[in-house]
Amino acid sequence: MREIPPLFLLFSMLAQAQPAALRQLAGERTIKIGAAVNPALLQQADYAETLAREFNQVEPENSLKFGPVHPQQTTYHFDPVDALVAFAKDHQMAVRGHTLVWHKQNPGWVTRGTFTPEQLAAILQEHIQTVVGRYAGRIYAWDVVNEAFDDDGSLRKTIWSGFIEQAFRWAHEADPKALLFYNDYDAEVVNSKSDAIFRMAQDFKARGVPLNGIGLQMHVTLDPGSLENMEANIKRIAELGFEVQITELDVRVPLDSGAATSEQLEKQAQVYHDIVAVCVKYPKCTAIQTWGFTDKYSWIPGAHRGTGAALEFNAAYQPKPAYRAIADALKTR
Ligand code: XIL
Repeated sequence: MREIPPLFLLFSMLAQAQPAALRQLAGERTIKIGAAVNPALLQQADYAETLAREFNQVEPENSLKFGPVHPQQTTYHFDPVDALVAFAKDHQMAVRGHTLVWHKQNPGWVTRGTFTPEQLAAILQEHIQTVVGRYAGRIYAWDVVNEAFDDDGSLRKTIWSGFIEQAFRWAHEADPKALLFYNDYDAEVVNSKSDAIFRMAQDFKARGVPLNGIGLQMHVTLDPGSLENMEANIKRIAELGFEVQITELDVRVPLDSGAATSEQLEKQAQVYHDIVAVCVKYPKCTAIQTWGFTDKYSWIPGAHRGTGAALEFNAAYQPKPAYRAIADALKTR
């Protein structure tokens, strides 16, 4: 009998010791595990390798917003999204689109233009048909409308507020197979905003407006609010027949001493665990996505001064306690 080379044995032992990647755990229960991506960073080997190894879904963090993708009235800038869609195909990842209708990151030609409501409607229709149509069959889900409600549940007054329902209809025409989402922040628990979103979903369902799900952003802190309340919100959306996707999860940490303490990182891991565990209880909760994946590139330090370390990999692409917590929660039955 041939002797087994000791190096081979060592490698196979190491392979067994290697814990399963998140995408493998998610795949076993047919849930998507995603990350928001800056396509320019796919050139960096550690970024691209971690992304492809761990996730089965990507979403461009900025590249599909109106301003970046449609900077002039007759100019579209599709290269970064095309690159991400190609990367996703190479690595068998699903792609979410974000976002078609939002009051932020609109181009100057829209915000500084003097358009009549009819002209604005035509602009938005052309935009949605062009962008959704281009990626039909390649982008499986869209955040059609983002952040249209104020915290008190009233409709936010923006240039697009008159076209919310129509936006869903236009997106559906452009890709009848795509899943269409309404996406918002601070609407994870039952509150005035999530009540308004729920009423809109009931109304859309009753009138046949094409809506498939609600995206819960989940930019949370170490104190994310009542879990029972979060579960009650997810449950009512699921029972109404809609999907829920966690679309922008991050858990920011106050960085008073410069770096996160191990105590903070353990607390953060618990928050990640609790949120993922609630989602996996509901078959209608079909995706969990973090807003980035490495602390090296996160919007948090820029947007919430004095906080950071919000994601599941540290700046050196090492898994944090939060990573282990997501993996553990994905395994709960
Ligand atoms: C953020 C990006 O992460 C930043 O790079 C950009 O400067 C501003 O927008 N809610 C959303 C996302 O729906 O699009 C936002 O993304 C974060 C809050």
